[in-house]
Amino acid sequence: MIKQAIIPLAGLGTRMLPLTSVIPKELLPINGKTNLDYILEECIEAGIKEFVFVISKKKISIKKYFYNDAFYKKIIRKKKDKRIIQEYKRIKKYKRMIKFVYQNSPKGTGDAIIKCKNLIKGNFFLMLLPDDLIINKNCSKELINLHNKTKGSVIATKRVDKQSVSRWGILSVKNKKKNYFQIDDVVEKPNIKKAPSNFAIIGRYILPTKIFKEIKKIKPGQGGEIHITDAIRNLIIKKNKFYGNIFKGKYLDCGTMKGYINSCKEILKEKK
Ligand code: G1P
Repeated sequence: MIKQAIIPLAGLGTRMLPLTSVIPKELLPINGKTNLDYILEECIEAGIKEFVFVISKKKISIKKYFYNDAFYKKIIRKKKDKRIIQEYKRIKKYKRMIKFVYQNSPKGTGDAIIKCKNLIKGNFFLMLLPDDLIINKNCSKELINLHNKTKGSVIATKRVDKQSVSRWGILSVKNKKKNYFQIDDVVEKPNIKKAPSNFAIIGRYILPTKIFKEIKKIKPGQGGEIHITDAIRNLIIKKNKFYGNIFKGKYLDCGTMKGYINSCKEILKEKK
């Protein structure tokens, strides 16, 4: 049973400046909710009971979003507003589910994950990249279902335009079925000639706890960062089973200003 999710949140968000000079990108609002609220809702609907948030000192306002009791209590005492009471209840429910760990220098997703090592209990956990918003289908739930069926690790994937492969982790496909396939190899941001397919990783993973050991062994890659993709690759070479779950719902890239603006428009369309 997958009950825990890791969410790396320590990234600087430079692609979203100037907004991120004062607000972490994960707290930016999209149609009345923060980006992080969408991610939490997806996970809770998929049965996740505990979150590990990897933040940094610079992004302490993420913790404050959940730890602002005195402020809420004071307002509620004064105003007795039903909507605020409801929202505070929701925030308190989330707070009980979240543990925080710190990654004060942004050294990549692999480095963020290893910081959570002592908090993960089962053999597998869910990992979500909050830049990737998913709407109208529950991607985490799909991954958990495929994991329950195959007992292996699972990565969410979708076909992308061949010209854009160098922006993604790209999967090499084996034994393709209608909605999933076995992953034969994975390459982080390959150039078009080296890309084994156009099946790109989108930010949802079910990973084995074995990966902690593997991350320790890898050297910093592109940009001096420890990439989770490299650790996954080594586990595949060692014959661990990884599957690509072909995701058919709507995927929104919230990590760039252009993507964020587009996500706001798309989510508004969904609500109409
Ligand atoms: C990360 C992963 C990449 C994946 C992408 C999805 O890249 O390293 O494999 O395809 O997320 O959004 P980043 O967006 O951090 O550059």
